[in-house]
Amino acid sequence: MAELTQHAITGTTSLVGLIGWPVRHSLSPTMHNTAFAALGLDFAYVPLPVQPEHVEQALRGLVALNFKGCNVTVPHKQAVMRYMDELSDAARLTGAVNTIHIKDGKFYGYNTDAYGFLQSLLEVNCDPKGMRVAVLGAGGAARAVVYALARHGVGSMVVLNRTAQRAAFLVDDLADAFPDSDLSFEPLTSKALTALNSHIGLVINTTSVGMYPDVDSSPWPDDVPIAPHVTFCDLVYNPLETVFLRQAAAAGVSTIDGVGMLVHQGAFGFEQWTGHEAPIEVMRQACMAKLRGN
Ligand code: ATR
Repeated sequence: MAELTQHAITGTTSLVGLIGWPVRHSLSPTMHNTAFAALGLDFAYVPLPVQPEHVEQALRGLVALNFKGCNVTVPHKQAVMRYMDELSDAARLTGAVNTIHIKDGKFYGYNTDAYGFLQSLLEVNCDPKGMRVAVLGAGGAARAVVYALARHGVGSMVVLNRTAQRAAFLVDDLADAFPDSDLSFEPLTSKALTALNSHIGLVINTTSVGMYPDVDSSPWPDDVPIAPHVTFCDLVYNPLETVFLRQAAAAGVSTIDGVGMLVHQGAFGFEQWTGHEAPIEVMRQACMAKLRGN
C-alpha cells in the first residue's frame, strides 16, 4: 500500500484537515492521506487542534490558507454551523456539521455521518427499508442515524436512551421533518428492550458504551435474550470487536462494525474536495491497519 512518506508536500499541494479539540487520536489523517497517495493526488490532510474560542478564526484561516475544506470533530460540530454559507439537509436536520467544503471562499457544511452510516449497511446487503429498528443512544451520532434511517424509509424506529428525555427531544425534532415515519422513544432498560425484542430487525449502538478505554461494557443488558433474526450494528470501531458485537456473535446473529461508517463518511468529503471517486477499500484497509496496530 502507498505510504504517505512517498508524497512530497510542495507549494502546489492542496490542503485539507481536521479541526477539533483534541484531534490526535483521529484515524482520518491516515485514511485520507493513504487514499490521496493511492490515487496519486497532490493533496495532504493535516490534523489541526483548535481550541473552542478559536473556531471562527480557524475557519477564516482555512480560507486565507487556501484549504479545500476540512472535517470537524468534537467539540466543534455545532459551533461551526453559524459560519456556513450553505448547509446540507442532513447538517441542518441533525444540527451538526462534520465536513466542510470551501469553494470560492464560501463554506458548504455537510453531515456525512448519516450518509456514511447508511452506506455501511447497504454495502453488506442490510437494507433497513421497512424494518423495525432500535437505536441505542440519543447523542449526535444517534441523530445522524435516525435521520439517515427516516429518510431511507425504515418501517419504524424506537430510540432508547439512558436519559429518556434526551431521546424524547431527538424524536420530537426529527418527527417534524419526517411526519410519515413511526418514531418513538423509551428508556434504555432491560424491560423496554425485552418488550421490543421479538419485533426488531436491527439494533444500532450509537452510545459510547464499549468504546476504548471502556472496552468491557455493552449497552445491551445480559438479561435480555437476543432474537434469532436480528442484526447488531455498532458505531464504535475502537475496539473493532466490541462486547456488544461479541454478544451478538455468540447468539449467532449478524453483526456490522463501525469501520464501514467511518470510511463512507470520509469518502463523501474526499469526493467533494478532490472531485475523484474515493478508493473505499484502500481507506478501509488503512483504518483497519491502524486499529489493529492499537
Ligand atoms: P455522540 O455525539 O458521539 O453521540 P454524545 O452526544 O456525548 O456523543 O452522546 C453519547 C451517548 O452515549 C448518549 O446517548 C449517552 O446517554 P445519555 O444521553 O444518557 O448521557 C450515551 N452514554 C454514554 N455513556 C453511557 C453509559 N454508561 N450508559 C448508557 N448510555 C451512555
